[in-house]
Amino acid sequence: MMKDWYIQWFDTDEYLDVYKHRNEKDAECHIKFLLSQIDLPSGASILDMACGAGRHSILLAKLGYKVTGVDLSKRLLSEAKLSAERENLSVKFILSDIREFNIDRKFDLVLNLFTSFGYFETDEENFQLFYKAYSLLNSNGYFVFDYFNRNYLLKNLIPYSSEFNEDYAIIQERKIVDGRVIKKITINRNGNSKLYYESVKLYESNLLVTKLKEIGFEIVKLFGDFSGNKFEENSSPRFIAICRKK
Ligand SMILES: C[S@@+](CC[C@H](N)C(=O)[O-])C[C@H]1O[C@@H](n2cnc3c(N)ncnc32)[C@H](O)[C@@H]1O
Repeated sequence: MMKDWYIQWFDTDEYLDVYKHRNEKDAECHIKFLLSQIDLPSGASILDMACGAGRHSILLAKLGYKVTGVDLSKRLLSEAKLSAERENLSVKFILSDIREFNIDRKFDLVLNLFTSFGYFETDEENFQLFYKAYSLLNSNGYFVFDYFNRNYLLKNLIPYSSEFNEDYAIIQERKIVDGRVIKKITINRNGNSKLYYESVKLYESNLLVTKLKEIGFEIVKLFGDFSGNKFEENSSPRFIAICRKK
C-alpha cells in the first residue's frame, strides 16, 4: 500500500461519493456547535486546515468571517471554489501541503476537522500540524481539533460495509494494523473495479492532550461529539479539543 495514499485518494471523483453523508448539513451541525463554544469576534479570521471541498469554510464565510482554506487536493479545492462562486462568497482557497504551508498573516481560529490528521508515517510529521496551527494563530486564538477517539474505534470497528446503487457498489473493509486503522475501499462501476486505501495512525487521547499542552495550547474544552457531550475515554466517538494559544 502506498504511504502517500492521501495524495491519490482525496483527489479522486469517488471520494465525495464515499463520504456523501459528510455534507453541508453535517458541517452546519459542527459549525453551529463550535461557534456556541468559542467566543469569536464578528469578522474574525479563520483558517480551515485541510478544508477539502470547503463545506465548513463556505458556511463560515456566509456568517461573515474572513476564511482561508488550505488543502492538498486540487480536485476538492476546485469544488470548494465553485461553491464559493455559486454563493458569491469571497474565500481564499490555497493549494498546499499543510506541512509546507506558510502565509504572512495570523488567524483568530484554526480548524482541523473530520479526522484530517494522522495520515503520515511518523509522529514527527503528524504532530507538525499542531505546531503549524500554533504558529499561525494570533495570541489567544483558538485551535479546534476533531479526530476519532482511538479507544472507541478499537471497540467499535466495523470490519465490512457495503453500499449499492444503480451506478456503483462501494465496499469498505477496515482493520487495525501496526497502530493504524486501514480502510480498503473497492468501487465497482460499469464493470470496472477501483481500489483505494486510507491509513490513519491511532493516537491515544492522553498523548494528544500532552502534545497540545507541550506546544503551548491551553485545552479549554474537550468534547466527545458535536452534540456537546464531554469527552469520555472509552465511550466517546470523537476527540474534539477546543484549544487556545496562550
Ligand atoms: C477527511 S478529509 C476532510 C476534509 C474537510 N475538513 C471536511 O471536513 O470535509 C481530509 C482532507 O485532508 C486533506 N489533506 C490530506 N493530507 C494533506 C496534507 N498533507 N496537506 C493538506 N491537506 C491534506 C485531503 O486532501 C482532504 O481534503
